[in-house]
Amino acid sequence: MKKHKILVTGGTGYIGSHTSVELIQAGYELVIIDNLSNSSEKVLSGIESITGTKPEFIQLDMRDEALMKQVFESHPDISACIHFAALKAVGESHEKPLEYYDNNLKSLLNLLKFFPEHHPVKIVFSSSCTVYGNPDELPVSEQSPIKPAMSPYGNTKRIAEEILQDYVSSTKAACIALRYFNPIGAHPSGIIGELPQGVPNNLMPFITQTALGVRETLQIFGKDYDTPDGTCVRDYIDVLDLAKAHVIALERILNKNQETNYEFFNLGTGKGVSVLEMVNHFQDVTAQKLNYKFAPRRAGDVPSVYADTTKANQILGWKAEKSIAETIANAWKWEMNYRKQENHEK
Ligand code: NAD
Ligand code: WQD
Repeated sequence: MKKHKILVTGGTGYIGSHTSVELIQAGYELVIIDNLSNSSEKVLSGIESITGTKPEFIQLDMRDEALMKQVFESHPDISACIHFAALKAVGESHEKPLEYYDNNLKSLLNLLKFFPEHHPVKIVFSSSCTVYGNPDELPVSEQSPIKPAMSPYGNTKRIAEEILQDYVSSTKAACIALRYFNPIGAHPSGIIGELPQGVPNNLMPFITQTALGVRETLQIFGKDYDTPDGTCVRDYIDVLDLAKAHVIALERILNKNQETNYEFFNLGTGKGVSVLEMVNHFQDVTAQKLNYKFAPRRAGDVPSVYADTTKANQILGWKAEKSIAETIANAWKWEMNYRKQENHEK
């Protein structure tokens, strides 16, 4: 059977690269587009060493209409798209809201606008638990109301989902929005992983960088939340488990198995882990001592968010499989490999 050709936007990024590996291993042919604003072309060699295949890559900014048009003209056989490309730093989005709206929404609009006319748009979209804001009930199910966004970044995800819903309802397009909780971890090979630019905002890379001495001390933001140990609770989902869910969602669209043309699913483990528990797990798994101290609450943090994953379990047949220990071990392996390689190149 001829392989489907899949467009992966943001495919050199963190989640995009892990999903690309899974897609290649599942037999898909890929065209990756990325402007490398938050990733490196070296990731393509990483994907190649894991899979034995170097995917086709086009460096472009998705806001550029002419270039997006060209992608589809030169690849009329693209069957579907997984759309990861976006700016994702919550704090930065407060400083540069227009940049976030421009980047994240124009990229989506161009994708929809230039998708080949001869077959309807099929798209898996990277959404986020951020669309639920500070939820009234835990765990958060897909029935939980969409709340006003707590950041311009979060608002781009809410608006993008609305654009997709409107588009799907007026065309023959099909879409699955995947609402990720907190993705962490790396490929077990240690060859690809998360590569934040500058000081990491997210907990896991801050922990691994602190353990290696790249950062001096981890600050735990807030110790007086209404949670079992006073620190915030999140649902940390392994990036490879997440990647596998994309392959399942893609196949659901391609095989026309959807119940409705716009579907959305939570992707998490269903288990809440506190910041302090995460620090303790890290110390246990890696036998590293972590310098940490308590600091004031971080603006915009909600006390507790974790997913009800029943819908994804039952309808997609997907379930997070990796243990937190495995996920932390992979994140640690990746960080050590990356720093070794970086020192080697200096
Ligand atoms: P990432 O920054 O590692 O990957 C995104 C990629 O998109 C980067 O390689 C970047 O260079 C590229 N990109 C950005 N704007 C572009 C543009 N205009 N044209 C072409 N390429 C562009 O981020 P990630 O963590 O892999 O996230 C992937 C997706 O998942 C994003 O849409 C993000 O909002 C969403 N998401 C991420 C998380 C998370 O915590 N990582 C959680 C929920 C949702
Ligand atoms: C996790 C916990 C921090 C860093 C973000 C986005 C969300 C989604 C996932 C994209 C919090 C604490 C962190 C540190 C700490 N992304 N922390 N010290 O904020 O839950 O979610 O990523 O859609 O939209 O907001 O993730 O990793 O930043 O924080 O104590 O140095 O770790 O306060 O409780 P967050 P995070």
